[in-house]
Amino acid sequence: MTATMTPPDTTSPEARRRPATARRTGPLSGAMDVPGDKSISHRALMLGALAVGTTRIEGLLEGEDVHATAGALRAMGVSVTRDGPGAWHVDGAGVAGLHAPDNVLDLGNSGTSARLLCGLLAGHGFTAILTGDDSLRKRPMNRVIEPLTRMGVQVESREGGRMPLSFTGADTLLPVEYVLPVPSAQVKSAVLLAGLHAPGKTTVVESIATRDHTERMLKHMGAEIGITETPEGRAITITGQTELSPAAVQVPADPSSAAFPAIAAAILPGSDISLDGIGMNPARAGVFVCLQEMGADIAFRNERDEGGEPVADLVVKGGALKGIRVPAERAASMIDEYPILAVAAACATGTTVFEGVGELRVKESDRLAAIETGLRACGVTVSTTDDSITIEGCGGPPPGGATIATHLDHRIAMSFLVMGLASENPVTIDDIRPSETSFPGFAAAMRALGARIEEDSTA
Ligand code: S3P
Repeated sequence: MTATMTPPDTTSPEARRRPATARRTGPLSGAMDVPGDKSISHRALMLGALAVGTTRIEGLLEGEDVHATAGALRAMGVSVTRDGPGAWHVDGAGVAGLHAPDNVLDLGNSGTSARLLCGLLAGHGFTAILTGDDSLRKRPMNRVIEPLTRMGVQVESREGGRMPLSFTGADTLLPVEYVLPVPSAQVKSAVLLAGLHAPGKTTVVESIATRDHTERMLKHMGAEIGITETPEGRAITITGQTELSPAAVQVPADPSSAAFPAIAAAILPGSDISLDGIGMNPARAGVFVCLQEMGADIAFRNERDEGGEPVADLVVKGGALKGIRVPAERAASMIDEYPILAVAAACATGTTVFEGVGELRVKESDRLAAIETGLRACGVTVSTTDDSITIEGCGGPPPGGATIATHLDHRIAMSFLVMGLASENPVTIDDIRPSETSFPGFAAAMRALGARIEEDSTA
């Protein structure tokens, strides 16, 4: 590893914050190029790293989370190269071909990098130390440690399964059948990736369908994946000790990122925007179902399949929204979209209830608390239980006029900027930097549609 001559950054995290303010905005118009899907980008790099040969990727998300995955793979001897905007290639090391990293793997804010890499590391008989930022080090890792330990890995963690982790894989893993105790695509993916190294068949059973990008991409790269419906739920089986063949990956635009401009347009009367090539995987599309139920004017055009994932071009127009009940069964298909849907609910007429959303407490921040505190500070009536939120819509512009703590959470940051666009008074967020994890250039892309968002350059 080459020594770095850059002096350490001694400024405090507080001093590095970049506040931003959003003000009441007229109709949005125009087209936005939404960045690539974060989940699919991580998987393209990781599976590319395990394939034998070169995997070419188009439309890769160039956000900090995906850079964290690329950096970790490079630290384990994989060549990951950027050829142009969104165009990357990975020269794979083959299944079980990673090298022991000679330094700590710092995964920044990225839970997906941390949990999926545990699956990748499981079949390598070396030790790696995994850590992350103040947000990631608070998040539960036991959910991956537990099944991977059953397969033969050894993990030391801080109390409660928190990072940093000292993770030692095993050259020989045991195949398992694992019933997911929480609906989590990250846990499912970690076990399936570990299963690639295990002899025979490893099965994950999920009672609630979560995003299936890992299964789709494993199949795309030639792995033997079987999917059956059982009384306990959907069983996904991988046959291990196989090789992956490189296959081109076209990353669709991220529906989770598209939700921000889509909801901004839906709540700003007279808006008319288009968002092309948005991923429409049913396991991700719950937010669009909700918007339609709320009465949003949203059209899905040119529905097609691109690189094994369904995509469509969206046209969203502004208008009046009404409150809805969002059932728990829909949570997995829109788990990252509750903060921005809460903003739509605050502007709607009537009450909106999100049921079965306890998982929001263990995301990049405690999102249940962040939504409740933020909406209340903006003058919206809101209450929460352990796993639900009730929002009384303002039937038009909410009062706004608050400063929101973003807690290193990109989706809280972007949601409350959208809130400011629709509010009577400006809304300031204490830090816009976290939006770079999933949506680089968010404020500029929104401004290009007409949004009044200013970043505080003096901070
Ligand atoms: C992700 C799965 C979800 C989601 C996260 C990305 C993935 O997390 O919240 O942003 O890429 O697999 P869980 O699997 O923990 O629900």
